[in-house]
Amino acid sequence: MRIYIIGFMGSGKSTFGKELAEEIGYSFIDLDKEIESKEKASIQQIFKDKGEEAFRKMEYLALRETEKEENIIIATGGGAPCLNDNMKWMNEHGLTIYLKLFEGELKRRIEPEMSTRPLLNGIEPDDLERFIYNTLRERAYYYHQAKILIDPLSIEPSEMAGILKENYM
Ligand code: S3P
Repeated sequence: MRIYIIGFMGSGKSTFGKELAEEIGYSFIDLDKEIESKEKASIQQIFKDKGEEAFRKMEYLALRETEKEENIIIATGGGAPCLNDNMKWMNEHGLTIYLKLFEGELKRRIEPEMSTRPLLNGIEPDDLERFIYNTLRERAYYYHQAKILIDPLSIEPSEMAGILKENYM
């Protein structure tokens, strides 16, 4: 089985996904890291040199590549589910889990990393809350298509592993 972890920037997809993978004996990849190693450049650099559209194409292709893998957890970038039928594709090719966090917690986590996140370039810290609110509203339609929705603040990866083993594996 393939498990796709989705959610907004700062929702902890990689941390949660990695721990969950250890718990259930799956391997783990982070889609952004796959793109970075293929392109030999950071996401920030890719956005700068080639633009968002090119990045979204790379993201689309990297996601489709995961079809070759089994027993794996894939953490996607925050925007991945919202473009190119990616959400539909993930639901057809694996189990999707949405890590849902409220705006305030996302802001608290994202704020210290604003300069390294290309989507936040040019956004003033005072406007961050509004940006998160608006972007979440746009993305909610896709995020809510996930098969499983969890609050990462109230469930540990080990507990989630138990639920997966009991119901999905
Ligand atoms: C993005 C989220 C980032 C990365 C890129 C775009 C987004 O991934 O893919 O900067 O559109 O929300 P994380 O969610 O892992 O930070």
